[in-house]
Amino acid sequence: MCRSEGARNLSLSGHVGFDSMPDQLVNKSVCQGFCFNILCVGETGLGKSTLMDTLFNTRFEGDPAAHNQPGVHIKSNNYELQESNVRLKLSIVNSVGFGDQINKEESYKSIVEFIDAQFEAYLQEELKIKRTLHNYHDSRIHVCLYFIAPTGHSLKSLDLVTMKKLDSKVNIIPIIAKADSISKNELQKFKIKIMSELVSNGVQIYQFPTDDETVAEINGTMNAHLPFAVVGSTEEIKIGNKMMKARQYPWGTVQVENESHCDFVKLREMLIRVNMEDLREQTHTRHYELYRRCKLEEMGFKDTDPDNKPFSLQETYEAKRNEFLGELQKKEEEMRQMFVMRVKEKESELKEAEKELHDKFDRLKKLHQDEKKKLEDKKKSLDDEINAFKQRKTAAELLQSQAQQSGSQQTLKREKERKNNPWLCTE
Ligand code: GTP
Ligand code: MG
Repeated sequence: MCRSEGARNLSLSGHVGFDSMPDQLVNKSVCQGFCFNILCVGETGLGKSTLMDTLFNTRFEGDPAAHNQPGVHIKSNNYELQESNVRLKLSIVNSVGFGDQINKEESYKSIVEFIDAQFEAYLQEELKIKRTLHNYHDSRIHVCLYFIAPTGHSLKSLDLVTMKKLDSKVNIIPIIAKADSISKNELQKFKIKIMSELVSNGVQIYQFPTDDETVAEINGTMNAHLPFAVVGSTEEIKIGNKMMKARQYPWGTVQVENESHCDFVKLREMLIRVNMEDLREQTHTRHYELYRRCKLEEMGFKDTDPDNKPFSLQETYEAKRNEFLGELQKKEEEMRQMFVMRVKEKESELKEAEKELHDKFDRLKKLHQDEKKKLEDKKKSLDDEINAFKQRKTAAELLQSQAQQSGSQQTLKREKERKNNPWLCTE
């Protein structure tokens, strides 16, 4: 029992019952059930689905995904499992198409975005006025099983880059997949090589906690076995008089649950039986906390002011609001000035255009007047010509009629003379 100094010490004269607190907590948790979200990252066909089936001793349905997609996409499946009276809401999240592309530069992006999106959803729930965190479906990823291909050489740059991008967001447990395809000696060397590459590249993987003395020893030992070399199989074979999960080859049988064959049992113990709660706790207290802190800082929230005095949420909100309003006013003023300037520009453009139109109108008017004057002059000269012509015509007509008159008088005179003198010959 913890005792604080100066506190009055009372001894109980009988049983009160608060020693049942742990039981009450256990009952409450059992009643609520647990949730656990696993992210499987690894190249196509490394045995991710088989390992999940083997781990939970069930066959999760799932259509095989197409592996010819242009990018990586995340597929999440939810299951409800029950063991004794404990219910577990299990999410298995797969990074479909990881490593399938020729250009793998962006492969980690959709995984990081998915993890962040789950943190963001939780943060939004926390920030709500009416929160329902007790029955909130927590989709934050508690563990990332990173499947390494059993090449026996070294980690691929895709593995290093992806793990580096994920290590501050999720608990990573690296595992060597299909460990039955690598010899015992090579496996040992491969494990050492992987760990040294992770250390030299500053990749932080999940360490099984050693601060709780009940599990310190086993966790300490298991940390030295990382990365676990696993074999998965849902096939059961009779060995002795027991049915066992195994993979059968022409040259022998690999028993999944035999610790001298692979580290499957170690992984199951560490992941489910011993450290499931720690993985959940680390997700909340370390990774989510980091996301929340960065996000709130990005939004302008601070715990202390520049003089290192505590800043309440209300003050931060007020300061942020004032800053925002100031910026808004500045923007408004800028826009107003811009508007005035634009109007002035438009006005002067219109004036210029109006002046040009006036000049054009004047030019046209003058042109029109000149043209009109020319036409009037032409008309006048034509009129003069017509009048002169008419006068000439009248004079000609007069002359013509006079000529006709004298002509007809001569004809009459000759006619008369011929009548009087019939012997006069006519022409
Ligand atoms: P995708 O979801 O398509 O990326 O594949 P996956 O990683 O889920 O692999 P899956 O579990 O579908 O297994 C692919 C093939 O590998 C199957 O033929 C499995 O039988 C085989 N396989 C699974 N686990 C192991 C293993 O531990 N060792 C060996 N040798 N083969 C395995
Ligand atoms: Mg699969």
